Amino acid sequence: MFKEKFQSIREGLTYDDVLLVPSRTAVEPKEIDVSSRVSRHIQVKIPLLSSPMDTVTEAQMAISMARAGAIGVIHRNLTVNQQAMMVRNVKREESIIIRNVHTVSPDTTIQEVRNIMGTKKIGGLPVLEGDKLVGIVTKRDLEFAGKQVKNVGDVMVRKVISARDNIKIDEAVEILYKNRIEKLPLVDSKGRVVGLITAKDIATRQKFPTASRDEEGQLLVGAAVGPFDIERAVTLEKEGANLIVVDTAHAHNQNVMNSIKKMRKEVSVDIMAGNIATAEAAQDLISLDVDALRVGIGPGSICTTRIIAGIGVPQITAISDTAEVASEHGVPVVADGGIRFSGDIVKAFGAGASSVMLGSLFAGTDESPGNEIIISGRKYKAYRGMGSIGAIQTGLSDRYGKVGSSKFVAEGVEGAVPYRGKVDEVIYQLIGGLRSGMGYVGAKNIEDLRKNSRFVRITGNGLRESHPHDIRITAEPPNYQLYNYS
Ligand code: XMP
Repeated sequence: MFKEKFQSIREGLTYDDVLLVPSRTAVEPKEIDVSSRVSRHIQVKIPLLSSPMDTVTEAQMAISMARAGAIGVIHRNLTVNQQAMMVRNVKREESIIIRNVHTVSPDTTIQEVRNIMGTKKIGGLPVLEGDKLVGIVTKRDLEFAGKQVKNVGDVMVRKVISARDNIKIDEAVEILYKNRIEKLPLVDSKGRVVGLITAKDIATRQKFPTASRDEEGQLLVGAAVGPFDIERAVTLEKEGANLIVVDTAHAHNQNVMNSIKKMRKEVSVDIMAGNIATAEAAQDLISLDVDALRVGIGPGSICTTRIIAGIGVPQITAISDTAEVASEHGVPVVADGGIRFSGDIVKAFGAGASSVMLGSLFAGTDESPGNEIIISGRKYKAYRGMGSIGAIQTGLSDRYGKVGSSKFVAEGVEGAVPYRGKVDEVIYQLIGGLRSGMGYVGAKNIEDLRKNSRFVRITGNGLRESHPHDIRITAEPPNYQLYNYS
């Protein structure tokens, strides 16, 4: 009985155990498309997610991730209100269509309009009579209004150019440009104002042409929730979260799965469930109708789960086992944890992942919460596991331990990672490496890389040969930095 356990024992592989084999290629770098799916209904140009950790993703990180074409997941070591406000901040950062339109009437006084424009920081207001659009008043109209002008009706532009609510963004741009106007009110079939498009917001959009956006033009954002926190999930969806990430250390747990089943009925945006590491877990969660699987038990740079609990599956094996099942159902696998170099990302896709989640590599950037720390003259930023003592004690998260109890068993460590500058730069290097890898295997797109790449297993000697050797390195490029943490 005990001997048998080891007679057919499997070997688990991780990133350093394998390399992708170069193949004949006809693919030029500019033809390579790295867009991929994060979940059933969310496709992004840059298939990276920033992890829901309190030293990685708050609003600022999520905004930069989405602008870069990726997506950030706001952590849950916060009150529901704090987390909801962060989601709101991301959604409001860029909105092509303003839905909560401030309006005035022809009788509104000029002074009142000036106050509204000043306090709300807006440059123009639609004018309504009842709920009919009858004019528009902008800062320019007020500029030369003399003392005799008392009300909006005296200065407003009466011939308003408006559009129907279902207008496409490109059509709106054309109308704004042709008519040299700054604001385009959107009206429904009864002439009621239901939205507003401004030239300023369109200009911001054009600055980030590959950003991840929803159909209203707002940036995409994910938000983490505890497995039993259905109320939080509902609130975050109402605030505009596009993806709910059920954030638990072991999603293949009957109570967790019962709760996900209930959550599925309450939440209509995509749900990502995790973490898991086996084909059975993938099958069970997919049967609950989730839209993505977050895969990785213990590979993370701050994780001690494998050491403390003796549990886990090396990450390449975990990805390929889960992806084998998930791909039959069209459910994307997100490879989470253990990525140290861009080459690991290429391997994760080759093993079957559709997107990759990172903690450590993003924690060192300007956009992560917290300030830089100087240690022995070098710059770092704080980074800690969500199961570390610090995260459990200060937070409200129950990912690894019991909230509120004074005794718990930590499954993560606290520390600092090298400062890496802007997250855009890190993404640029990571995606550059991904494109390079795709070129070597001849993959035009991520599906091609997932399905048609081949691996070779390497030994310790192969790994040693892979890193620079027999040289004293005097200049480290930004995409290859081996820090000595001792
Ligand atoms: P990287 O390697 O990118 O990993 O820093 C980030 C992922 O690690 C997971 N995570 C933890 N795992 N104990 C763990 O065992 C922890 O305290 C912990 N905190 C985070 C998580 O999946 C994250 O995305």
